[in-house]
Amino acid sequence: MMGKILITGGAGYIGSHIAHEFSDNDYEVTILDNLSTGNVSLIPKNAHFFQGDFTDHTLLDTIFNDHKIDSVIHCAALIDAAESLVKPIEYYRENSAKTIELIAFCDKKNISKFLLSSTAAVYGNPISILVDEETYCRPVTPYGSSKLMAEQFIGDFSRVTSIKFGILRYFNVVGADPKGRTGQPNANSSSVFSSLCRAALGKQECFTIYGNDYDTPDGTCVRDFVHVSDLANAHRLTLEYLSNEKSPLLMNCGYGHGFSIMQLINTMETVLEKKMSYEFGARRNGDIVQIIACNDKMRKKLNWIPKYDSLNEMMSTALKWEETFYKSNLG
Ligand SMILES: NC(=O)c1ccc[n+]([C@@H]2O[C@H](COP(=O)([O-])OP(=O)(O)OC[C@H]3O[C@@H](n4cnc5c(N)ncnc54)[C@H](O)[C@@H]3O)[C@@H](O)[C@H]2O)c1
Repeated sequence: MMGKILITGGAGYIGSHIAHEFSDNDYEVTILDNLSTGNVSLIPKNAHFFQGDFTDHTLLDTIFNDHKIDSVIHCAALIDAAESLVKPIEYYRENSAKTIELIAFCDKKNISKFLLSSTAAVYGNPISILVDEETYCRPVTPYGSSKLMAEQFIGDFSRVTSIKFGILRYFNVVGADPKGRTGQPNANSSSVFSSLCRAALGKQECFTIYGNDYDTPDGTCVRDFVHVSDLANAHRLTLEYLSNEKSPLLMNCGYGHGFSIMQLINTMETVLEKKMSYEFGARRNGDIVQIIACNDKMRKKLNWIPKYDSLNEMMSTALKWEETFYKSNLG
């Protein structure tokens, strides 16, 4: 057995992929999730599952005592940047205040490592499109600010604790487990990829592109899309690397190149071999225009070699998931 890890939000989209990555590699996996957006059918069969809030101390006590947790991967969060503009209290409470409370609990339990799911949203609209970890952070939504606050707390706290912290700033996470065990559980996910898949499969009438007059090559936003299984692998490599590293270890996680929303549609048409129906809508508040990860740090430190860095691969795994999961679960 490699180690005993707790994944908060492990029944969610990214957390469940991380759970499979660790379970596949001989870790004992425990999941704590309140199932607000997650789905327990996505988790590995041999994982322990607890339903509840990640700041429920009684439940946490049971989990830590019964399963001798040595590392925590904290994925649970509120994740919708647009929603955060109208619900800032919820976002700061869940993503900042409660994360601090969880870390304080972990410190009392003397865990050795803690990974935080952070986000490229901490950068806001950067001056240069390619951002590295030194790029100045100027989030434009409460979602981005609430994650940056958690990062800053970790920066301060790591001076006085023995916990080794890893902070991974994910770019746009897409695709699904190539073995078909898990994928996006949320039928109403606001992510651009999910919406594109729904439109491709006829579950929504038309795909809306929010804004086509941005200062980008084709006027639509540009994103660094990263396959969720490569991201999950980066978590395992980070956890295994952390022991001898200065804490906190902060790393971007993206492929280092981007695609516009229009390019997504063109690729989807190639994958489907038919035309997509789409329309142009107004710009959305809080949307970042274009951003791409400089991933040199992660590649060098972890020797991270992505396996699924192809838009076709990302789309076909996502489409396959949407087809089978929604057929079996949601009708
Ligand atoms: N999806 C992306 O592209 C993306 C990009 C950057 C960062 N992230 C970060 O990755 C993490 C996971 O995101 P995701 O896309 O898998 O979202 P998700 O909504 O699928 O997963 C979040 C999980 O956390 C659970 N949860 C939420 N609040 C909880 C609470 N208080 N207690 C216990 N469980 C709770 C939900 O039920 C869900 O299973 C988040 O921290 C998010 O900020 C995601």
